[in-house]
Amino acid sequence: MSQTWSASMPSNIALIKYMGKKDVEKNIPTNASISWTLDHLTTQVRITKKESGDDEWQALPSDYPFEMSETGLKKFLGHFKRIKEVYGVTDTFVIASANNFPADCGIASSASSFAALTEAACVAFEDLTDKKLSVVERAQLSARGSGSSCRSFLPGLVQWTEEEISEVQSDLKDLHHMVILVGAGAKKVSSSEAHKMVKTSPLFNGRVERSENRLSLLKQQIAPLEWKALYENVWAEFWDMHSLFETSQPPFGYFLPGTLQVIETLREFWDNEKDGPLVTMDAGPNLHLLWRKDQKELAVKYFETYVKAKWTCLSNIEEVGFAKF
Ligand code: DP6
Repeated sequence: MSQTWSASMPSNIALIKYMGKKDVEKNIPTNASISWTLDHLTTQVRITKKESGDDEWQALPSDYPFEMSETGLKKFLGHFKRIKEVYGVTDTFVIASANNFPADCGIASSASSFAALTEAACVAFEDLTDKKLSVVERAQLSARGSGSSCRSFLPGLVQWTEEEISEVQSDLKDLHHMVILVGAGAKKVSSSEAHKMVKTSPLFNGRVERSENRLSLLKQQIAPLEWKALYENVWAEFWDMHSLFETSQPPFGYFLPGTLQVIETLREFWDNEKDGPLVTMDAGPNLHLLWRKDQKELAVKYFETYVKAKWTCLSNIEEVGFAKF
C-alpha cells in the first residue's frame, strides 16, 4: 500500500508589506511585515511515496483546477528538495495540490501553496524520520521557499521580522474578507521579481523607516482598536508599495482601470458612512477588504451598492461570496 500524507494551509494578506529582500537566496526581508491569516482560502497538498524516479507535481482533482508555470514548478520542487535535505530524506514523492479558490482570479496563492507544501512535507518526514520541528521552525523553513508563506502558520494577526514569526495580540477578531477581482491572468512581474526591482526606486531610500513607523503605529491602533486610523495606516502602506513599483527603473505596475474605479467607490463609501473596511492590495490589480464581524451589514451594503452588478467578488461572507469554502 502506498504511503500518503496531507496538509491544508491558509493564505494571508499583508497589512504591512514584505517588499524587498536583504538576502535573495534566503528570503530575508528588508523590513518586518504584518498580515491577517485568511482561513477560508486554502491549499491542500498530498504527498505520496514513489517506487522510483524523480519528485513530481500533479494537480489534485478540484472544483478549481490550476496549472503551474515552469518557473513556479521549479521553485515548488526546489523547496521540496530543501525540506528533504533538512530531514535527510532521499526517497522520491508525488506531490499533488489544489486550492479551494479559483486560480485564474489573480489572488496570491503562493503563501498558501508553500505553507501547505512545507507542512505536508514536515508531516511526512516526521513520520519517516526521528527529526521534529516546532510550528515556528516549520514556518521559518517555509519562508525559505516563499517569504510570505511563513505568516500562514499562525492564526489572526501575524508578524514576521528578520528574527522571528509571532502572533500579535489585538482586539481584531474574526474579520470578514472580500477580494474584488478587477483583473485575472498571470502577472507580468512576479512578486519575487518585484522584491528585486523595488531596490532601483529612489523611494526605496527610507522605505524601512516608513514601514517600521507604520508597523509601530498599527500596534497602537489595534488595542484598543482605532478602526479609522488603522484604515488610513493600511491604505498609506499599500500606496507606498505600489509607488515603489511605479518608480522603479524601469517602472512597472499592477493597476488596471477597474482598480481605480473600485478605489473611488471605497473612498465614497467611507465618506458617506464615516465607516468602512480596511483596504489593501497585493502585487496585483485586485482590492482586498477586511471588515469587522459587527460590520457585516455594512459589508453587504457596500457589496450590493458597488460590487454586485459590476465585479466578481470572493468572500467569506455567505451573502457575498461565490466560492465553495
Ligand atoms: C506583495 O512571498 O511572494 O505579497 O519570498 O519571493 O516568494 P517570495 O515573495 P512573496 O512576496 C509577497 C509580497 C507581497 C507582500 C506580502 O505578502 O507581504
